[in-house]
Amino acid sequence: MTIRKLIAGNWKMNGSLGMLHELDGIAKATFNHPELDVVICPSFTLIAPAIVRQPDMTFGAQDCHYDESGSHTGCVSAPMLREVGASYVIVGHSERRIEQNETNEEIRAKTTTAIANGLVTIVCIGESRAAHASGQALPIIGAQLDGCIPPDATSDNLVVAYEPIWAIGTGNTPPPESIAEMHASIRDRLCLLLGSEGKKVRILYGGSVTGKNAEELMAIPDVNGTLVGGASLTAEQFVPIIEAGG
Ligand code: G3P
Repeated sequence: MTIRKLIAGNWKMNGSLGMLHELDGIAKATFNHPELDVVICPSFTLIAPAIVRQPDMTFGAQDCHYDESGSHTGCVSAPMLREVGASYVIVGHSERRIEQNETNEEIRAKTTTAIANGLVTIVCIGESRAAHASGQALPIIGAQLDGCIPPDATSDNLVVAYEPIWAIGTGNTPPPESIAEMHASIRDRLCLLLGSEGKKVRILYGGSVTGKNAEELMAIPDVNGTLVGGASLTAEQFVPIIEAGG
């Protein structure tokens, strides 16, 4: 089965109006690769200006609330994201699980609301360095999937990103055979949870992806694209990753 690859950029709390010109080169590479999906997830404040700069590109957010509206000071809802033109949202990033104490239950609620509001939802999972070292990665990932994935999600509205926490921003990626084992296990779990839809859900790898390692990473079975942090901030670094996916 051929699964359309997704190359996603997570700008995290980086970027500014002054750096939106980076989107021009990224857009050019994106339009040269119609066989791929490419999405940039900037900060909330940059989504609208990014769309104005590159109206034919696809943009997403890095979080949303599980309620559609209400008294949640400082939060942004899925309908607000849709209204402004976002098509995707990342939920459950390890930085939010750690800094905002997000639980699997909250992440599942966010996923349900995001999907109900027409956002393709990238659910992040991944184990800590200690869990990896003690051989607990597989059960932790399994529990995260069981806890975060709504039973009616489909391959059209759900993407899973496997980001081992110890690989994020460190320049270290797991060996290919370890990524293959993790992605195969994620695939099996998705099939258990979602039946035949689970076979088609895109599973991204994230953690120190660069133009140098992207091709090798995306050649690993069940790696259907990448979720890129630091190297998504400039066209110079992100375009080679798009090229590697094509
Ligand atoms: O969500 C992407 C991310 O956590 C990976 O970051 O900088 O290691 O590519 P980075």
